[in-house]
Amino acid sequence: MKTEEHIRLGESHSAHNYHPLPVVISAAEGAWVTDVEGRRYLDCLAGYSSLNFGHGNPAILAAAREQLDRLTLTSRAFYHDRFAAFVTGLAELCGKDMVLPMNTGAEAVETAVKVARKWGYEVKGVAPGQANIVVMEDNFHGRTTTIVGFSTDPESRDGFGPFAPGFRVVKYGSAEAVREAIDENTVAVLLEPIQGEAGVLVPPDGYLAAVREICTENNVLFVADEIQSGLGRTGDTFACDHERVVPDLYVLGKALGGGVVPVSAVVANADVMGVIGPGQHGSTFGGNPLACAVGEAVIGLLKTGEYQARARELGAFLHERLAGLGPGVVAVRGRGLWAGIDIDPAIGTGRQISEALMRRGVLVKDTHGSTIRLAPPLVVSRDDLEWALDQLSAVLREARA
Ligand SMILES: Cc1ncc(COP(=O)(O)O)c(C=O)c1O
Repeated sequence: MKTEEHIRLGESHSAHNYHPLPVVISAAEGAWVTDVEGRRYLDCLAGYSSLNFGHGNPAILAAAREQLDRLTLTSRAFYHDRFAAFVTGLAELCGKDMVLPMNTGAEAVETAVKVARKWGYEVKGVAPGQANIVVMEDNFHGRTTTIVGFSTDPESRDGFGPFAPGFRVVKYGSAEAVREAIDENTVAVLLEPIQGEAGVLVPPDGYLAAVREICTENNVLFVADEIQSGLGRTGDTFACDHERVVPDLYVLGKALGGGVVPVSAVVANADVMGVIGPGQHGSTFGGNPLACAVGEAVIGLLKTGEYQARARELGAFLHERLAGLGPGVVAVRGRGLWAGIDIDPAIGTGRQISEALMRRGVLVKDTHGSTIRLAPPLVVSRDDLEWALDQLSAVLREARA
């Protein structure tokens, strides 16, 4: 089937909850994908950072293949022989005691909300039903009803209520706003160390450390949603590392599944995670053998430090080049191999720039109308990255003309 036929059939038989670029991908390797017509594109989205280690990473694929032939699912009704190594490895990577494995990012965020509330009632002594959690403006934590209930994006939220109470929204980047929102019933502060979907918004220096201090002073859990920012993307294992901040709960997903299967997790110390007992939380697929095998391979790659170093080095080059893009670009933000670029609406929308890049063989995705995001797999070569940036320069030049 040709591109147009794939799109026509797909659109007429699926919900219209996405507006994809008109490209139909059929194969991929490393940082490159190939479409059904045989055209190649440099993938500068990387599955919203799920493909940090590249398409078809040999170590991840080998672990998955070996596991597929042996054992894929047991449910948590029984133990399996991949579980211990995965949870031990992930706990160690995070410097924590315990892991609660789930599948998608939204499930992991929901899990963190549940753990924080239960900790609030059982350890902090909050009165039953009174727990509140401080969250940020412009957050993106997923699509479940609880989560969209505390979104400030009308598109994510409108039409899906009624919503769960117990969340207080404050301005992102203001530690003072966090301090003011906390009261005796606050159990957690939930934030993205860098807000990805909002357009790669980097908070002011010192913000994460200040929030950490405020949480400690007030006996409130610091919950870091590192689903998109974590696992190498910013040049460190976690975006919180940049300020040497250790949250009470890490919320992980996306790249933890190596671009192969959905794997997410909440990681915390026993004094927090210990509040969850048998029957109180779970998932049929969470922590399955295939997920654990893939997750273990991902942890192995991160332990080498090689991917974090690549993100740091290529990221420095990326941001140097982006700073020189010139007219047509209103702002550039980011850290490591991750950037949000605000396009001057006078020269085009983010969508138009993304489509023009696609025609030149570079895949990116727009967000919030005028922003495009760059997040190539961390395995991208410097030459390929440079070529993609040349295409971006050319697209902006054409748009300005
Ligand atoms: C920071 C953050 N949290 C949570 C999620 C939700 O993850 P999932 O789509 O796997 O549910 C995302 C997805 O983009 C995200 O970026």
